[in-house]
Amino acid sequence: MKFSTALFTLGMSIVVSCAPVSRRGVEPSLVIDFGIIAGQNPDGSGSCTGLNGVLIPCQCPPSLDVYIQSLSANVRAGHDVNNPSVAAPFPTDSSIASQITRLQTQISSLQNLNGSGVGCPAAATTWSGLLASLLVGTPEASAPTVEATSVAAATTAVGAATTAASTSIDPSLIVDFGVIAGQNPNGGGSCSGTNNVLIPCTCPPSLASYTASLEANVAAGHDLNNPSVPAPFPTDSSRASQITRLQTQLSTLQNLNGTGVGCPAASTIWSAQLASLIAEQ
Ligand SMILES: *[C@@H]1O[C@H](CO)[C@@H](O)[C@H](O)[C@H]1NC(C)=O
Ligand SMILES: *[C@@H]1O[C@H](CO)[C@@H](O)[C@H](O)[C@H]1NC(C)=O
Repeated sequence: MKFSTALFTLGMSIVVSCAPVSRRGVEPSLVIDFGIIAGQNPDGSGSCTGLNGVLIPCQCPPSLDVYIQSLSANVRAGHDVNNPSVAAPFPTDSSIASQITRLQTQISSLQNLNGSGVGCPAAATTWSGLLASLLVGTPEASAPTVEATSVAAATTAVGAATTAASTSIDPSLIVDFGVIAGQNPNGGGSCSGTNNVLIPCTCPPSLASYTASLEANVAAGHDLNNPSVPAPFPTDSSRASQITRLQTQLSTLQNLNGTGVGCPAASTIWSAQLASLIAEQ
């Protein structure tokens, strides 16, 4: 919630490039512009200023043509060519989930541009803020007919999952909400969350009910209440996996009781944690 609408809007401006793209390359109109111009305020030793005055290599960000070529090669390969353990999905639809996935692939492609871990830092772009905004954004509304069906199906699925509880997640991998439910009730059902943003007094939920929902989603591979949202939960300690897990935690919370029916991100301290994980990548 810290990230302004202005930043979101700025980040959403997309690149329209006239550069030829190789066959089966990514569609240039889906590539988000860096938002930063290379070579600002050189300090004489190779560093220039990036986002918020952070020092970045003066050659960052790269030319858009070079970048799109690298991105396309990664997407074609299905993984980052320079860092094969990093997947490179690039779904082309306009859902929030797909926008998030594309931006993650854009970030990893930039960070591994010239080799494994050899590329440009996130501060060479405005993408961290954009990604954070997308992550805390309202889940995309489904078409009404589909929504009615999926909510009904979801209720059944969640009920079933609670009893099944087949996939258990190591509790130490679940990041705590960081917010306690029921603070400063205003008498109208709202209580205070992160930065005193008003949240439903029932949020965050009990850790037990939340964990049951998270485990059910992870077992299914997608959010049971919002099936277009994947629910990966890799267990290693890499930063990329921490980010992925926290994203799955967030979408699970936001869709806890139905499509888009759950607790807002301000019922947790996760937005700030995600933003710093992404910025440190
Ligand atoms: C990547 O390699 C190219 C070619 O050697 C070089 O011009 C460019 O500055 C490098 N970029 C980064 C970010 O390392
Ligand atoms: C979710 O549903 C449960 C059971 O009906 C309810 O107790 C809880 O308050 C709901 N939480 C949210 C955030 O909608």
